[in-house]
Amino acid sequence: MKKQYVLSIILLAGILSGCGNDNNDNENNLNSQNDDNQEPAEVNADDTDNNDATEAGDQEDVKIIAHRGASGHAPESTTYAIDQAIEMNADWIELDIQITEDGHLVAFHDDEISRTSDGEGEIGDYTLAELQELDSGSWFNEEYPDKADAAFAGAEILTLEEIFDTYGSEVNYYIETKSTYLNEDMEEPMVEMVENFGYEENVIIQSFHQDSLETISELNDELTLVQLLWWEVDEETGELNEWLDITPAPNDMTDEDFETIGDYADGLGMHLDYYDGTEVIDEAFVQTMRDHDFMVHVYTINDEEDMERLIDWGVTGLFTDFPDRLDNVLQNLN
Ligand code: G3P
Ligand code: CA
Repeated sequence: MKKQYVLSIILLAGILSGCGNDNNDNENNLNSQNDDNQEPAEVNADDTDNNDATEAGDQEDVKIIAHRGASGHAPESTTYAIDQAIEMNADWIELDIQITEDGHLVAFHDDEISRTSDGEGEIGDYTLAELQELDSGSWFNEEYPDKADAAFAGAEILTLEEIFDTYGSEVNYYIETKSTYLNEDMEEPMVEMVENFGYEENVIIQSFHQDSLETISELNDELTLVQLLWWEVDEETGELNEWLDITPAPNDMTDEDFETIGDYADGLGMHLDYYDGTEVIDEAFVQTMRDHDFMVHVYTINDEEDMERLIDWGVTGLFTDFPDRLDNVLQNLN
């Protein structure tokens, strides 16, 4: 992997000079680059780069990744969710990116627009102008009346460009190439936009789609990439099955599997449990991933006890709909 390769050389040089770091170099490198690059007031002001904070499970270094913004508090992927995530000390704003019928990159999770807007059909069948006519906020007020806010009504779907323009380089963006079987060829315009804004250090690009990440790595091998993983539980045997043929089940992953992913990615992201509640990862697997120099980011963790447990296991970041909860957990642990 390009970054791992470079970091391996740096690590080796550090060891030789008696200043070796442990296996959290990738993430510390990323963060130290960001710290150089941004005024941290809105993105964890107290999250200074700490060269001592490199032990597995070091709570100070666990990143708050706001899943579709603070989507537990406001309509996902809208300015309201992003604003609240920033207020809640999120380190990263997570956004799923898709492509409109007329070629604009937009932040939107589902393939179909009906759950989170007043429209119907697939997002890729709409132009940007048509999508921005939709009301992408009222659904939240109906779904979560206790969190409803009249201001959410009429919330617009945002383009990635608008988001970069609005929030600037003080914010970090954890963007996903979503459903690439529908959103073809989004990698090049995405990388171009990141480069045009000069946000290479402000962005992590994640995907379930290995070929998408490999394409991005070929376009710009300096970008930080995270391979998302998903395992399904076989109803009959209870065994875990890989999804999208990226990896075998956690227990069956070999050094070679990690090396293959490591050729293009710096981190791994995965769910904690399957829909039926079966947990698909454990502490040993988290440590194995850390031992292979990967950032380990688990989604989507909204329960405080799960947050504490995963932090104790040594994860380096958690996706959550409630960045305020994770912020509280981290503050209480420190
Ligand atoms: O990107 C991490 C996590 O968000 C993956 O699941 O479906 O919420 O995009 P999803
Ligand atoms: Ca996502």
